[in-house]
Amino acid sequence: MATAEQIKTLLKSHFDNNSERFNTIALQIAANESRIGHSSLADEIKELVDKNKHTPVRILEFSPDLHDLVISASPRTHIQELIVPKSFHDRIDRILREYKQKEKIRKFGLTNRRKILLAGSPGTGKTMTASVIAGELSLPLYTVLMDKLITKFMGETSAKLRQIFDFIKKHRGVYLFDEFDAIGSERAKDNDVGEMRRVLNAFLQFIEHDESESFIIAATNNINLLDQALFRRFDDVILYDKPDVSLIEKLIKNRLGSFQGKFTIVSVVSHAKGLSHAEITQACDDAIKEAILIDKKIVTKNLLIQMLEDRFLAYGGK
Ligand SMILES: Nc1ncnc2c1ncn2[C@@H]1O[C@H](COP(=O)(O)OP(=O)(O)OP(=O)(O)O)[C@@H](O)[C@H]1O
Ligand SMILES: [Mg+2]
Repeated sequence: MATAEQIKTLLKSHFDNNSERFNTIALQIAANESRIGHSSLADEIKELVDKNKHTPVRILEFSPDLHDLVISASPRTHIQELIVPKSFHDRIDRILREYKQKEKIRKFGLTNRRKILLAGSPGTGKTMTASVIAGELSLPLYTVLMDKLITKFMGETSAKLRQIFDFIKKHRGVYLFDEFDAIGSERAKDNDVGEMRRVLNAFLQFIEHDESESFIIAATNNINLLDQALFRRFDDVILYDKPDVSLIEKLIKNRLGSFQGKFTIVSVVSHAKGLSHAEITQACDDAIKEAILIDKKIVTKNLLIQMLEDRFLAYGGK
């Protein structure tokens, strides 16, 4: 039988929308039942938990005025899809592990890493990292479009930010403040001293006082523009860069998958040097689409090189 404490925790986690805790308790109950010989009941409980793990993440609505400034999603992106240096991978993995065992950490008066700054050139995986964190932890992803928020609510941005942080406190999720340099920049402060300074100060205070269980992720293309005061507010700062030769190889291999023709990826890598992850991914997709259009089942080396060079001519090397 489940103990009174387990039933209470089960109910509480249900009302808190804390499915992770809910599952843990349910599995504890299954283990108890199994120990006292009720193995079929234990199996049934385990099966129910397993099924529940695949149910869609619950996405909540923002108030109508913020509706078009916050994009909600429930990504299913996995960490293996993110092609980054091993050290990055380990850091993201640590963020996931700390979250999964946050109660254990809290017993010692510490908190899991959950305020994270992602910076680096376009198309290198910042937004994707937020998707990975949400996907791996089965949390909803809310992307706050900072530049739009500022333009739309000029003069009352701080009040809107407060509304967002209230939401963050009440509803667990991954909150990505994209185009973060729209508020964080030194330059912005000079342009509109009053408003930008207020918005930045408000953000710094909200983030500092936030004790929620949500992730607060800020992403920017330009770390040099960011105010130094911001850095110490974050538990982790990850700097993204364009892929090196070995990452290019991995990226192309992953993306082409079964469409890879009879050629070694190493032989095409030099044609992708200087392109971002996003551009290389796009070139691979273009090549696959082209192969499909001409009724071929594989991408040839020449086709891939052509698509990479097209990308390079269009956007690369900038
Ligand atoms: N590190 C990566 N590993 C695998 N795929 C990647 C990576 N980075 C980017 N991609 C591919 O490119 C797409 C766009 O990347 P993403 O949106 O994460 O870039 P970003 O760094 O947020 O760029 P921006 O600064 O323009 O917002 C991804 O959806 C993915 O398909
Ligand atoms: Mg992005």
